[in-house]
Amino acid sequence: MEFSNFSSPLPSTCSAQSIPIPSLYGAEILSLSASLISNYSATVPDYFYLNHPSISVQNATFCNITVTYTHPGQNDTISVEVWLPLDTWNGRMQAIGGGGWIAGRSPFQYQGMSGAIGEGYATITTDAGLGSASDPTNWALLSPGNLNLYNLQNLASVSLNDAASIGKSLITNFYGQPPQYSYWNGCSQGGRQGLMLAQQYPTAYDGIVASAPAINWGEMIVTLFWPQLVMNIMNIYPHGCELKQLTSAAVSACDGNDGILDRIISDVDSCHFSPFSLIGTTFNCSGAEMQISEAAAVVANTTWAGAHSSSGNFLWYGPEYGSVLGDENIYTGIAATECFSNNSCVGKPSSLVTQWIQLFVEKNPSFNYNNLTHSDFDRIYHASVQQFSSIIGTNDPDLSEFQATGGKILAFHGLADQIIPPKGTRHYYDAVTAVTPDVHDFYRVFEVPGLGHCYGGNGGQPTAVFDAMRAWVENGTVPNTLPISFRDANGTENHRILCPYPQKARFDGTGNPVDAESFKCA
Ligand SMILES: *[C@@H]1O[C@H](CO)[C@@H](O)[C@H](O)[C@H]1NC(C)=O
Ligand SMILES: *[C@@H]1O[C@H](CO)[C@@H](O)[C@H](O)[C@H]1NC(C)=O
Ligand SMILES: *[C@@H]1O[C@H](CO)[C@@H](O)[C@H](O)[C@H]1NC(C)=O
Ligand SMILES: *[C@@H]1O[C@H](CO)[C@@H](O)[C@H](O)[C@H]1NC(C)=O
Ligand SMILES: *[C@@H]1O[C@H](CO)[C@@H](O)[C@H](O)[C@H]1NC(C)=O
Ligand SMILES: *[C@@H]1O[C@H](CO)[C@@H](O)[C@H](O)[C@H]1NC(C)=O
Ligand SMILES: *[C@@H]1O[C@H](CO)[C@@H](O)[C@H](O)[C@H]1NC(C)=O
Ligand SMILES: *[C@@H]1O[C@H](CO)[C@@H](O)[C@H](O)[C@H]1NC(C)=O
Ligand SMILES: *[C@@H]1O[C@H](CO)[C@@H](O)[C@H](O)[C@H]1NC(C)=O
Ligand SMILES: *[C@@H]1O[C@H](CO)[C@@H](O)[C@H](O)[C@H]1NC(C)=O
Repeated sequence: MEFSNFSSPLPSTCSAQSIPIPSLYGAEILSLSASLISNYSATVPDYFYLNHPSISVQNATFCNITVTYTHPGQNDTISVEVWLPLDTWNGRMQAIGGGGWIAGRSPFQYQGMSGAIGEGYATITTDAGLGSASDPTNWALLSPGNLNLYNLQNLASVSLNDAASIGKSLITNFYGQPPQYSYWNGCSQGGRQGLMLAQQYPTAYDGIVASAPAINWGEMIVTLFWPQLVMNIMNIYPHGCELKQLTSAAVSACDGNDGILDRIISDVDSCHFSPFSLIGTTFNCSGAEMQISEAAAVVANTTWAGAHSSSGNFLWYGPEYGSVLGDENIYTGIAATECFSNNSCVGKPSSLVTQWIQLFVEKNPSFNYNNLTHSDFDRIYHASVQQFSSIIGTNDPDLSEFQATGGKILAFHGLADQIIPPKGTRHYYDAVTAVTPDVHDFYRVFEVPGLGHCYGGNGGQPTAVFDAMRAWVENGTVPNTLPISFRDANGTENHRILCPYPQKARFDGTGNPVDAESFKCA
């Protein structure tokens, strides 16, 4: 199908008076505003316009529309923001997903929308009625003890389909034709949202990029607390420098497993590393000498092993070797600590998990998570999975309806993701494979060695994912590999390939390891 016969809308059509109010079953539209934006420019790096290359946007003209609506009886107020290019529309819609606690519609998503406008997409995002605050304190509870389940449901699923409908309706009226293709673009919360759309609203999008998805939410979010629990119970708080040193030692131990020394663990499955032999070794931390303590080895080992119950049962995966567990300056990594000048340290859990436990599981904003016993943790884990999986777990392996529409899903997941364990994505992919053996024909996941959560790390940023998804949907071009490149510690540009799970890129052992031609998927 060729896209043609599209004539640019006149600037005067971008006004609240000329744009028909979209209708949406189950919603009451409260307002529509529109304003023409001209001479818009933005420079968007690839780690903001995720799944795409960096882009510089110049002199764009678009109609900026905001539709605000409620689901009568639910007392929610949701805003969908839609940017419609005037004379550069490429006939397609691209929705930009959320991140962390944010459903969408915040400064980060505006970066993604700017990138999309620069490429001619009509682009949309929703705030799910939650605003743009980076934490859920303002919307999680109706009153102490009582969740606002409608808000959670809007984050999880319902508002995403609403936004797709509203976006398509505005596009159809504005250009006189519906989008030829509609695409979702997300990572993390946005990746989870993409998979939720495929599971629950299989006709909303033709193609979905669902990178580093925050799926298996009930299990995954709560077990981000696992290293903090271990530290609190044992009353041991290693310095971030020690954990950083242990990650570095794990990289040294496993870096060469693929035949190339590049400070990247490419084959995580062949990496087996025990930190205990390093206890007592000396290294430098911000200029001062420090030794690896037994505490650091214990915390690193238990973090890598993943969360377990008090009776020793496996609960959920930990990060791969090579991921940041803690750091000296920044509170990143799930085993992060904060250390004072008197050399004592305290745990620094991610607010993603502390807010989840307090607001959603305990429904008590002042719940004290610092003195949890292991059996308290077992109970919280169970409650998190039991109460919330059906709302936001996003791990339904039955994608057959989405498959039947001809839709495609592509994703990347960093193998040095310090927040969402890549094994959780494998777990889901394997579950889909078990019910849909031909999953590879419509859904592929590309693991990225050395990449952190959505961005960061040593392995380079995957920038070809969205366009590969588009070519798969529109042309049937099967993405057998994706390109990736990165500059190594010596300043050399390396070109590699990414392979669809369960394949891995293998170095042929003879070629130049900076050339993509020296690698094959196996
Ligand atoms: C358009 O934007 C550019 C860059 O921001 C600026 O230099 C230029 O003056 C603007 N042109 C008009 C007509 O406003
Ligand atoms: C900027 O875009 C407007 C609207 O499309 C166009 O009329 C104008 O010529 C463009 N300016 C430049 C410098 O490209
Ligand atoms: C689009 O409109 C909304 C208000 O509805 C505003 O908050 C936002 O800043 C506008 N975006 C641009 C790029 O002007
Ligand atoms: C509806 O929500 C607003 C705040 O968003 C709140 O002030 C009001 O009390 C709520 N109304 C009902 C009936 O719950
Ligand atoms: C940098 O170059 C040295 C010497 O050729 C090599 O041993 C090392 O592995 C290189 N480091 C990286 C990160 O490629
Ligand atoms: C720590 O840094 C000092 C000064 O740069 C250096 O002399 C020393 O060898 C380093 N120690 C270790 C264990 O790397
Ligand atoms: C380290 O973790 C592994 C599981 O990954 C476990 O089998 C082993 O017993 C742990 N070692 C120690 C000393 O705790
Ligand atoms: C170390 O300093 C921190 C921050 O000032 C303080 O909270 C803590 O009690 C001190 N610990 C000890 C053992 O003195
Ligand atoms: C944890 O501390 C709170 C007070 O902050 C207390 O009510 C609770 O009983 C403590 N729990 C445990 C397991 O000690
Ligand atoms: C599909 O194939 C055509 C013809 O080769 C090409 O021009 C177009 O760019 C392709 N579309 C995508 C999305 O790759």
